[in-house]
Amino acid sequence: MFAKEVYQERRNKLKSVIGEGIILLPGNEESGMNYRDNTYHFRQDSCFLYFTGISRPGLCLVIDLDNDQEILFGDELTVDDIIWTGALETIEAQAEKAGIAFTRKKTEVINALAGNRKVHFLPVYRAETSMKLIDWGQTGQPSVELIKAIVAQRSIKSEQEIQEIEKAVATSVLMQLKAQEIARPGMTEYEVSAQLQAVAVAHGGQLSFPSILTVHGEILHNHASKTVLKEGQMVLCDCGAENEMCYAGDLTRTFPVGKSFTSLQQDVYSIVLNAQLKAAEALKPGILYKDVHLLACEHLVLGLSDLGLMKGDPKQAVAEGAHTLFFQCGLGHMMGLDIHDMENLGEEYVGYTAELKKSKEFGLKSLRLGRALEPGFVVTVEPGLYFIPVLIDSWSAERKHAEFINYEKVKQFRDFGGIRIEDDYVITTTGSRLLGPPLIKTLDEVHANR
Ligand code: GLY
Repeated sequence: MFAKEVYQERRNKLKSVIGEGIILLPGNEESGMNYRDNTYHFRQDSCFLYFTGISRPGLCLVIDLDNDQEILFGDELTVDDIIWTGALETIEAQAEKAGIAFTRKKTEVINALAGNRKVHFLPVYRAETSMKLIDWGQTGQPSVELIKAIVAQRSIKSEQEIQEIEKAVATSVLMQLKAQEIARPGMTEYEVSAQLQAVAVAHGGQLSFPSILTVHGEILHNHASKTVLKEGQMVLCDCGAENEMCYAGDLTRTFPVGKSFTSLQQDVYSIVLNAQLKAAEALKPGILYKDVHLLACEHLVLGLSDLGLMKGDPKQAVAEGAHTLFFQCGLGHMMGLDIHDMENLGEEYVGYTAELKKSKEFGLKSLRLGRALEPGFVVTVEPGLYFIPVLIDSWSAERKHAEFINYEKVKQFRDFGGIRIEDDYVITTTGSRLLGPPLIKTLDEVHANR
């Protein structure tokens, strides 16, 4: 964890914004996979982690603003527990490292919430946390004031946080290189994907999300299966590590199963790469990420028009959503302690503002981030082209956006698959900086590495 002053400063900043009442931040519990004691990998709640740095199940932080008290609730291990887990640092010692003055037993949380005071808590994403809130009498709505305050803090990454994210991205680069090193015709997706996890764990962390590794890149979040890799196919590998501090990396590369892409694959790869580079170049403070997304879409349309798949004015095609036949999702998202940073706090607060609401249109409705970029934001840039047979058939039957789409040509791409290229960037005062060591990306680099 960082030095205790980091967490004290973060909590002080939060306290100065919220002002009154109680801030209730429950940590995560162990969660059983198939019975209580056979648990999933423990992952601390990211907000709890941000304000305490403590990765241990069963804790709860209460910040009593009216009495200026910070209390960490949790139960010390019993001898019975220690038989199974070994001795762990005491909760008191962990609180001390986080600069938290008081500790109490977990059963006492309810007493700390007594009285008719406003209790600020966040949206819940785990059933165990819902149960705890009900037990503690907190059946109202999450605090928008708390959500907004935390989003404002966590959106701007400190230098120390950037260094941690750099470490996570560096491991993610190694995962990508491993995939390209080992993937060969005849292997299954599972065999390749397993090695990605090995790299993340060997570097002291975990996967930041379940790896997407597939020859069906057109399926946006397709996880590995027993599918056997065949010559002529492409592998889309979208994976990342979180480091031991739980900061995330997220990278995507698409590469040929065999020694080289086919000529058609190279054409489509070049279009995606150009859009990725153009979008990354446009990153700077003040620009709407939505506009960066639209810029990438225009470059995709220009490339698709050169290939004969689209036609007409690219700006108009994008404005009308014709490109979403090939790019159905958003350009990227915030990244930090969560791979989609703070997504549980609500996209309307994390990615959008009161003035800029998220669109409900197909394509834009999947753009997680739209608002103006600020120095310290960490974002992914991940355009792609996805040829989804069921979508092609459905649009083609309707002749949807036929003024922009050459359906006869598109039919030839029905089984093409999908290509995505993704890197992670921090917004600086003048532009942006690539995070982590550069990972092979041009066609020449990809081919040289097969
Ligand atoms: N890289 C996976 C995702 O952004 O959902």
